[in-house]
Amino acid sequence: KSHFKGKHFLTEDNWSKEELDFVFDTSFELKEKFYKEEPTLWLPHKTLFMMFFEQSTRTRNSMEAGMTQLGGHAHDLTPDKMQITHGEVAKDTAIILSRMGHGIACRNCFYGIGKKYLDELAQYSTKPVMSLQDDVYHPFQGLADLMTIFEKFGRNTKGLKVTISWAYATTHSKPLSVPQTQILLFPRYGIDVTVAHPKEFPLSKDIVEKAKLNAKAGGGSLKFTNDMNEAFEGAQIVIPKNWGGFGFYDMNYYLQNEDECKKEMKSNLEKYKNWICDEKKIKLADKNVKLMHALPADRGNEVTDEILDDPNISIVFDEAENRLHTAKAIMGLTM
Ligand code: CP
Repeated sequence: KSHFKGKHFLTEDNWSKEELDFVFDTSFELKEKFYKEEPTLWLPHKTLFMMFFEQSTRTRNSMEAGMTQLGGHAHDLTPDKMQITHGEVAKDTAIILSRMGHGIACRNCFYGIGKKYLDELAQYSTKPVMSLQDDVYHPFQGLADLMTIFEKFGRNTKGLKVTISWAYATTHSKPLSVPQTQILLFPRYGIDVTVAHPKEFPLSKDIVEKAKLNAKAGGGSLKFTNDMNEAFEGAQIVIPKNWGGFGFYDMNYYLQNEDECKKEMKSNLEKYKNWICDEKKIKLADKNVKLMHALPADRGNEVTDEILDDPNISIVFDEAENRLHTAKAIMGLTM
């Protein structure tokens, strides 16, 4: 376990499959202990500094509850509580926080400078830095997703058919980090991933290229289509998720042209209202299909209530709960 101490967690792509397998083993161990109410005081008296540039329900609470359950403490920080608002740079922030505690975690999707900010923290921190989602990656979400897949389908996922589909673009869309993390990670485990999106909403080209290499090395596959119905045919897992919105725009452009962008996103919602996971689409999938979603889901636009609340189809709350167990594994191992 000492191998992991001090290792940054910014993307699964910097972690070997063997390392990730150990993280999953640890996550399952922690989940079992959680249900048995056995103590897991792996980080007594240790402090995690959490910097949230954006809102969060799952990420913030899985980290904070996780630190408490590991015997340590998490500081919940936002830029307005720090000198970041007065221009203090990531380098100075990283040096200072890493002298005072044992880990730094940061969500910086679009209002800060995203991954660049995380990379600078990691460069100067002497303690592990974890991405709580940035403009490129959402590594904790990827771990919870795969843990949930293992729970429902077993650890041998070779040939499993997973469809990730674009939903629509709105003003509160998140960036591309969720689908990008999934296409990089799932094919490393032999999963056959199909991504459906309208032509004008592709994922980042460099990530797609990297994901294709991962698929080749991992025995999975990666396919793209602009037809949501085609993508749902035979799928064993469907993940309908909007990745338009902010991710579609250059952030500086968005901030300077907010009204125009919001208007465009509203019209996209109308134009693409059939890009929804509903009963008709689910009927095209495998008869035992499961629905996953990072949440929050926009009910009625990304997925219907009927599908999201169907206990035979939806595993979204198992997926959300697994954010806790995987977060504890990463914190326990790296800190
Ligand atoms: N899935 C996820 O990251 O949720 P939050 O935005 O609530 O943290």
